Amino acid sequence: MRRDIRVLLYTGFAAAVVLTTFITFGKRPSLNPASKFRPYRDEQPKIPPQYQGDHIAHGSAYANQFGWPDTQNETLAYVTWLSSTVAQKDGQKPEDDVYFIGTRILVWQLLHYEPTKAKGIDVVVLVTPDVDEQRRLQLRKDGAMVRPIEFVHGKHDAWLHPKEGRWNDIMSKLRAWEMTEYSRILMLDGDMILRYPLDGIFNDPAAQPAKTNVSILNPPDEVRLPSEYLLASIGEVAGAKHAFPPDWDHGLKKRGYFCAGFFMLKPNKQIFKYYTDLLDIENRFSPVYMEQNLLNYAHRWDGPAPWKELSYAWNIRSVNDNDLDQGVVSMHEKWWEEPFSHSERVKGIFHEMRWKMEGYYLARNDEVRKQQVDKAYALEHPGHKSPWNRSGQ
Ligand SMILES: *[C@@H]1O[C@H](CO)[C@@H](O)[C@H](O)[C@H]1NC(C)=O
Ligand SMILES: *[C@@H]1O[C@H](CO)[C@@H](O)[C@H](O)[C@H]1NC(C)=O
Ligand SMILES: *[C@@H]1O[C@H](CO)[C@@H](O)[C@H](O)[C@H]1NC(C)=O
Repeated sequence: MRRDIRVLLYTGFAAAVVLTTFITFGKRPSLNPASKFRPYRDEQPKIPPQYQGDHIAHGSAYANQFGWPDTQNETLAYVTWLSSTVAQKDGQKPEDDVYFIGTRILVWQLLHYEPTKAKGIDVVVLVTPDVDEQRRLQLRKDGAMVRPIEFVHGKHDAWLHPKEGRWNDIMSKLRAWEMTEYSRILMLDGDMILRYPLDGIFNDPAAQPAKTNVSILNPPDEVRLPSEYLLASIGEVAGAKHAFPPDWDHGLKKRGYFCAGFFMLKPNKQIFKYYTDLLDIENRFSPVYMEQNLLNYAHRWDGPAPWKELSYAWNIRSVNDNDLDQGVVSMHEKWWEEPFSHSERVKGIFHEMRWKMEGYYLARNDEVRKQQVDKAYALEHPGHKSPWNRSGQ
């Protein structure tokens, strides 16, 4: 009997100790479901020592190595391009259209996502005639400036046989040169994921207009180039193994050849005419990767208008973990595919951005609906708060 009481007392005491310890030191279950089910951890970028210090805004290293552009005296734009020959297979729903989703992620990152959004720079999506109204409307709702464009074809361009049929109308990208209301444009393919703001790129020394070299003559069958031009870009890496930042001896593929998925330009109708006239000169450039080879021909390093190299920290293809650690600003890769580097971190960031984008708009729609309900309620029940109206509580 007494032993039973003792056992009971000991057990009670032990239980009290355990309970007190738990209440004092134990972590209460989180009420925030996001923290429990968040699939990927937020990446905290590491900043290389040479870029650490007070001058770093946004916690980004390379992103502001050149400071921020003066958007008062210049009209700048980020422009991307959407065509249904690349995306939107017949009858495909927008929610399954990976290129379209990619474009929406990019627009959201440039317009709304705090760690990457642009300041004072327009975000424009060029859409070819085959992009349907539903997609255009969605992009406008997301906040993009949607600009319908016509396809670009030469008069005698039958010799242009693209490697893949779906690239057929990619030449319409060249219409960015017609947008002369902008002083400079950064042209981005839709399969880009940002890590930091790109705005500083407009201050990159390579991103400034240059004089055409008049001592080098183009073939006489080509129309004249204007006296000034801007084409700044980056060479592509050969694969997931490369130095950061890569250079022509450490990871870049084809010396002097740039990637037409990421470049800076200054709109100019005379250059646009120059390019489109090249379409009619058979075999002036290799028709594989059409617009990329046209531009690489027009801006070859030994020509009168050589392209300039932007800092390689701005954008890399086949991103690996080291690029992330070192602070790569943006990644050129298809968010829905396995990354070339097979990096789980890279993959995690792709999917994190996709779902954060969806979540951002869902929450924003909720906010709009809430205001509508509040308004309707106030009309029907004057003097009463709607169940959603928490103001003044
Ligand atoms: C912008 O333009 C104004 C008026 O022309 C000029 O005073 C100012 O210095 C310019 N700012 C920059 C950064 O060029
Ligand atoms: C123009 O091209 C010539 C011939 O290749 C070259 O010697 C010269 O340095 C170039 N000028 C400029 C400003 O790049
Ligand atoms: C919410 O309630 C406050 C009063 O508590 C009222 O002034 C306000 O108009 C209400 N908002 C809406 C959207 O009905």
